[in-house]
Amino acid sequence: MKQLSDYNFFDPELLVCPYEFYKLAREEAPIMELPSPRTDAKLFLVTRYDLVIEILKDTKVFSSNFSTLLAGKEESDDELQKIYAQGWPQINTLLTADPPEHERFRALVNKAFTSSRINKMHDLIQQIVDELIDSFIGQNQCEFVSEFAVPLPIKVIAQQLGVPQTDLPQFKQWSDAFIARLGHRLSREQEIECAKDVVAFQHYFHDVIESRKKQPQDDLISDLVQAKVLGERSLNTAELLSIIQQILVAGNETVTSALAGGMLLLAKNQEQMKLLQTDLSQLENFVEEVLRMESPTAGMWRVVTQDTKLGDVDLEAGSLVMVRFDAANRDPIKFQEGERFDVRRHNASNHLSFGYGTHFCLGAMLARKEMQIAYERLLLRLKNIRLAQDYQYSPNILMRSLKHLYIEFDKIA
Ligand code: HEM
Repeated sequence: MKQLSDYNFFDPELLVCPYEFYKLAREEAPIMELPSPRTDAKLFLVTRYDLVIEILKDTKVFSSNFSTLLAGKEESDDELQKIYAQGWPQINTLLTADPPEHERFRALVNKAFTSSRINKMHDLIQQIVDELIDSFIGQNQCEFVSEFAVPLPIKVIAQQLGVPQTDLPQFKQWSDAFIARLGHRLSREQEIECAKDVVAFQHYFHDVIESRKKQPQDDLISDLVQAKVLGERSLNTAELLSIIQQILVAGNETVTSALAGGMLLLAKNQEQMKLLQTDLSQLENFVEEVLRMESPTAGMWRVVTQDTKLGDVDLEAGSLVMVRFDAANRDPIKFQEGERFDVRRHNASNHLSFGYGTHFCLGAMLARKEMQIAYERLLLRLKNIRLAQDYQYSPNILMRSLKHLYIEFDKIA
């Protein structure tokens, strides 16, 4: 039988199916030291539910200011600096800001992400969902990732940020550029292309911001531009651009991953799909169970700010910690038979897929709404959904993402 020391967490094969490794890690080393990518900082992987919460609660000791970890090479590259100088400074706002600065940003942005704004998006989301289904339903088959799960969140966010349909390809390119900067080691040419995309994105949205300032509309970007909190300065252009950028990065790939992962779970668990199709009142709980099982954001970084002890492990200031939502979400102490997909699981919504505490996902309400409407329409319009080919995940440390998912189905008359 395999021992914990036989596994290499960074092995692409492990990343696409890490659950056997997590089982051992939670039992034997829930705070596990890994080979660090940096010589000046140790790296720890945290896999137990209670320990992940302990870290996320303590923003003083476990800082979210990990942007230097993710930064590009602009500081040491003249050409990159020149390109970025044509835009606005990139600043830490939500995801990578700590309290107290984080509080101002979050309070202002919460003014835009209200339940009434999200509820107003219902008809728009349903219309996009139905148009996407219309585009493939006649063929009784589709590649679900590219034909449904990718376009849905992009179209929703684009509409809410004032991007017309004709600019969608451009919008997707910018979104991909931000994600490329986060996830991969880029060549210098790629860094330069990404920098140009970042600056083009900034100029495009600077114009949208100015137009919404003059003429507000019924959309998210107008709400962001106008957001006011007593005693706080409104968001300036650089802050707005940083927030819009985060909405793109945090809101597209995650929803794509959740939509595709949920479809795969259904196709692989026919009896659960029948259960849902005969009783759509289980839909909300099913969405929570998909989020628990798939954990689209598989992990997130924190930086240790002072020497501390977590469980029985000493952590030095400067160490990097990666909390693993995907491991915590299958912790058997919290979720009985955590590896089993069960649309009726009573505590499915206790998952940590949207994080916990200060940085709890800004878009959780929107993501849930998109998932609920999507699956409802899919299950009302398609039956006998089944896998047409083998599926494949991309190995990625932060994101769980299916490369493609070919399905077949029959149309419900
Ligand atoms: C299923 C879809 C989604 C998942 C799984 C997800 C996951 C997460 C997680 C785990 C965090 C916390 C990160 C941390 O603690 O460091 C987070 C934060 C965030 N999410 Fe999401 N997210 C999703 C959808 C969205 C959407 C649709 C948007 C925007 C439209 C969004 C915007 C954000 C932002 C801006 C933050 C930072 C919040 C802050 O630091 O105050 N997310 N998300």
